[in-house]
Amino acid sequence: MQACPLPKPSEDGDFLEAVLSGLRRTRRAIPPRFFYDARGSQLFDLICTTPEYYLTRAETAILNQFGAQMAEMIGASCVLIELGSGSAVKTPHLLRHLDRDAVYVPIDICAPHLQQSTQQLNRQFPAMRMLPLCADYLQLFSLPIDVHPNLRRVVFFPGSTIGNCTPEEAVRLLRQAAHLTGSNGALLIGVDGKKSPEILNAAYNDTAGHTAAFNLNLLTRMRRELGARLDPDGFSHYAYYNAAPGRMEMHLVSRRRQVIRLRGETFHFEEAATIHTENSYKYTPQEFQHLARKAGWHTKMSWADRDGLFSVQYMSLTAGEPRHPSRQAR
Ligand code: AVJ
Repeated sequence: MQACPLPKPSEDGDFLEAVLSGLRRTRRAIPPRFFYDARGSQLFDLICTTPEYYLTRAETAILNQFGAQMAEMIGASCVLIELGSGSAVKTPHLLRHLDRDAVYVPIDICAPHLQQSTQQLNRQFPAMRMLPLCADYLQLFSLPIDVHPNLRRVVFFPGSTIGNCTPEEAVRLLRQAAHLTGSNGALLIGVDGKKSPEILNAAYNDTAGHTAAFNLNLLTRMRRELGARLDPDGFSHYAYYNAAPGRMEMHLVSRRRQVIRLRGETFHFEEAATIHTENSYKYTPQEFQHLARKAGWHTKMSWADRDGLFSVQYMSLTAGEPRHPSRQAR
């Protein structure tokens, strides 16, 4: 078993800045990366177990069925860099097909989560080299991960987390990913598809209430970590599919007139005023391929679950016909 160096999170002060600037705006918003404190990461794992949240199950089925083929296409001997690895429950489906000299680099902003999942994977794959990095992957591109220059670098970005970016931000992130892998690199990315609003709305409004708790936990975190004075019960979870931009939106909606006080500033909320906490863009495979193309990525292969809800796409930076257009799990 290999040691797991855990650099300190680069987060300090960042949360305060983001909340203050987010609340000062006319359209109030807090970036979704702040959901993932210890409690938030736990709640996210619970969301993934609900019958409504199909994303994780669909992607896991795809990885389970096509992991071997994916490993073959990305090259079983590679540096696999997982962005926002979280509890990394899907990763074994890929890792078990990689060679002994492959290196796994999980990157996550939640240190306890990262440490725990790396330990778990280390037990499952004792021979594999692992290099966990505690960081916001949006800033990862300045991190010193120029290890093993002889191995192909593959960015693994599952979960449709790319959906949290606007299309413009997504292109920028994918360009940075290209920079990170170098010209012979690869990208293996999970993308949630467009589908009926009923299915989408249910997925972000689970009856067990985990998504609501996940959203509201942001307020609890503001109170605990920033000393914000607010009433978490004064807000409710609101999630809906906004068809025009093609995204799920999450908001915290004020249930009455009230204020949030933070570092000497007072933020007034009318009844029904909102804080926008997340976008989750949905793309058809074609839409996503078009977007990724702007960042230099060419789609080589696309796998979908049998219901066509979700896809995993393999891309490289070199042009050329894909070997197979697409595959569906059955
Ligand atoms: C982990 C960002 C992909 O957008 O579906 C789950 C987070 N938000 N339920 C998503 C989330 C509400 C999730 N991502």
